[in-house]
Amino acid sequence: MKCRVCREPAVIDVRRQNANYCRDHFLRMCRDQVAKAIAEFDMLRPGERVLVAVSGGKDSLACWHLLRELGYEADGFVIGLGIGEYSDESTQYARDFAEQRGLTLHYCNLREEHGFDVPTAAKATRRVPCSACGLSKRHLFDAAAREHGYDVVATGHNLDDEAAVLFGNVLRWQTDYLGRQLPVLPGENGFPRKVKPLVRLGERETAAYCVLTGIDYIVEECPMAEGNKHLGYKAALNEIELESPGSKHDFYFGFLKRASARFASDVESQHRELSACTRCGAPTPEDVCAFCKLVERSRGHEPVTLRARR
Ligand code: AMP
Ligand code: FES
Ligand code: ZN
Ligand code: ZN
Repeated sequence: MKCRVCREPAVIDVRRQNANYCRDHFLRMCRDQVAKAIAEFDMLRPGERVLVAVSGGKDSLACWHLLRELGYEADGFVIGLGIGEYSDESTQYARDFAEQRGLTLHYCNLREEHGFDVPTAAKATRRVPCSACGLSKRHLFDAAAREHGYDVVATGHNLDDEAAVLFGNVLRWQTDYLGRQLPVLPGENGFPRKVKPLVRLGERETAAYCVLTGIDYIVEECPMAEGNKHLGYKAALNEIELESPGSKHDFYFGFLKRASARFASDVESQHRELSACTRCGAPTPEDVCAFCKLVERSRGHEPVTLRARR
């Protein structure tokens, strides 16, 4: 196995590209793919301040590292979601990453600052944990960007994530979601711009990027995500990818190029007028925003103790 670029021994193959790479050329390919995504979708402009939402996992830490490598002024933001030891450990990985490199990391603890955590919210709302978790994360990313003056929030969503979400949205023809499933959402109405700089890289590549650059990350997945539909969609797409490499890329980028604009008029939120939430000031179509409603429902519930994982 020889590197596509220099013909020295390769350390990794990327079947989607029908190519092998040595360490240095693999890292360069990752940087190039991120730079290409940023340029292609006009994600970031020079001089903008970027807040990277970091979970302590491979994707978001690789995203932060890559944005700094590309010269962006990128700081981190981690939320303690209160999902037992998993949250403590993953937050620690984010902290260590920032400390070792002298980077700024903002921190928010859901229980300390808002009086609840994800397991409690899941119980109070009787919905899957990922729903309260996703709502809280989106709200807190926006709030942190506003509070600390960042233009853009970057997340670590990769090609596998986006292809799996697309698969789910297509299975149910959720045309509103399809209209919004873009690698960049414009900043408007008091919301920061949202960008996904890793959409051109797969999960296996972000993991390899971390290993080859010495980034320590939490390998374990969120214990509450068990049974999450997206894990099933990922597994299904992996089967397809194995048989015909490049399928995930073609599925997702074909959608962006040829289909996504057709769903733009189905996006419900764009038709609604927003005003400031009477409790927290966040932009919302109603008096009280969805996050503040979640806070209200979840407070006063006893903390839920998670079973130890084996
Ligand atoms: P997930 O919703 O777990 O698939 O995560 C999607 C993205 O959200 C990750 O790539 C991170 O950028 C961000 N993220 C997830 N968990 C956290 C967290 N606890 N704190 C800050 N950002 C997070
Ligand atoms: Fe956080 Fe599912 S509980 S992603
Ligand atoms: Zn090489
Ligand atoms: Zn609110």
